[in-house]
Amino acid sequence: MSNKASASGPGPGPANDISAHQISLGLKRTETENRPAPMVGSFQPLDRPHRRPMTGLNYSRRQCSVKPLNAEPKRNESIVPLAATMVAPEVVEEVVVEDYEQLAKELENASPLEIMDKALEKFGDDIAIAFSGAEDVALIEYAHLTGRPFRVFSLDTGRLNPETYKFFDTVEKQYGIRIEYMFPDAVEVQGLVRSKGLFSFYEDGHQECCRVRKVRPLRRALKGLRAWITGQRKDQSPGTRSEIPVVQVDPSFEGMEGGIGSLVKWNPMANVEGHDVWNFLRAMNVPVNSLHSQGYISIGCEPCTRPVLPGQHEREGRWWWEDSKAKECGLHKGNIKEENVGKLNGNGNGAGQANGTATIPDIFDNQSVVNLSRTGIENLLKLEDRREPWLVVLYAPWCQFCQGMEGSYVELAEKLAGTGVKVGKFNADGEQKTFAQQELQLGSFPTIIFFPKHSSRPIKYPSEKRDVDSLMTFVNALR
Ligand code: ADX
Ligand code: SF4
Repeated sequence: MSNKASASGPGPGPANDISAHQISLGLKRTETENRPAPMVGSFQPLDRPHRRPMTGLNYSRRQCSVKPLNAEPKRNESIVPLAATMVAPEVVEEVVVEDYEQLAKELENASPLEIMDKALEKFGDDIAIAFSGAEDVALIEYAHLTGRPFRVFSLDTGRLNPETYKFFDTVEKQYGIRIEYMFPDAVEVQGLVRSKGLFSFYEDGHQECCRVRKVRPLRRALKGLRAWITGQRKDQSPGTRSEIPVVQVDPSFEGMEGGIGSLVKWNPMANVEGHDVWNFLRAMNVPVNSLHSQGYISIGCEPCTRPVLPGQHEREGRWWWEDSKAKECGLHKGNIKEENVGKLNGNGNGAGQANGTATIPDIFDNQSVVNLSRTGIENLLKLEDRREPWLVVLYAPWCQFCQGMEGSYVELAEKLAGTGVKVGKFNADGEQKTFAQQELQLGSFPTIIFFPKHSSRPIKYPSEKRDVDSLMTFVNALR
């Protein structure tokens, strides 16, 4: 296949097919608008102020289907040619405001192809696909299948795997497109790595590096658009993505009109499950990143992504050293509920109860599981006070992986009852966290440690397999 679609050639942007849009939107035409629209190429660099001839510009504002909360347009009007300013047309009063919540309901059962088609139809060359170089290549195939021109951008953090770069090249050739790469600001990257080194994210969390290498470039890209298309799916991350709609007014970023509310975010794959994406890619013979054949599922930057084992959730391969709730890099921060925002600061380690988590019910609530206080676990750390071996889970009640292992841990505790091995839990969130990190080897939640009877130092369970049999094997090997 070659030259499947053109992402950069002239396309049917609003400036070029005004009449069709006006008819369908029922807008009144002014004298100025009746003039033929100037021919402009549809390509508009993502990180430059988006300028159109005034006819197109005003038309586009009225037709803009998002209601900006911040009504002040942020374009740099000083660079609009004077002549264009002088012939500025009257503004037609009728404003078409799309109700995206309603549209999301209407499209809830629509296929990704239908959703993609609707998105491209509505936004023309003011919309682009955000392509990460992973399985979201499905978006590009869907866009190609619509037969409409489409644009694709990618955030090149400088830390991607070589396989991902090769894959970008394959995709460009296969679809006859040019991916619009966005790069981080060189001075900002320099500042970060000179002061903190190349791998600071392992020390103090991924947020700072992601902000410099991903989020700010994304912000720049989106300022040149009115809508974007992502490959997010509900099943990718139960903690943060389970409620994403197929289309929404972007809760976090601004589009070219400026102000929160000036950008629409399409998630055509929201309701598609991972295995169906793969069935689609196979059926359509779509090229895929060769990392997938090495066990990678969700793919981001090289130092922050690793393959997952069968049965592990795909998100466990991303920022694996951090809390599960922090596994959003900021590109989709609107997914994170208010009560979890605090946990994303710093190392994704939140203040716990301070962020409204006090209302989350406790877990591992079973008579076979001893609830250890700070004093209790401090006593366990002293060898002389330990009369039997102990298995202890360090947890936070809000942690989805802790919740996920509750059943197997309780079952294990019941099996071990009366065998001489005690099973306990210690809520290591909030003010206990620093202590647990320093004294109990807490990395991310949950951390499971074993206090052998005759050894002073607790031993950390090294695996992410938390089923009863795996945990029992660990206990039996050490008791
Ligand atoms: S992330 O927030 O954890 O990095 P994830 O990898 O799940 O995101 O990807 C979700 C969607 O975000 C992708 O389908 C894609 O649309 C967008 N995305 C993620 N990373 C990039 C990137 N580097 N460039 C462009 N879009 C990206
Ligand atoms: Fe930096 Fe890792 Fe985030 Fe990439 S994923 S931007 S390397 S912290």
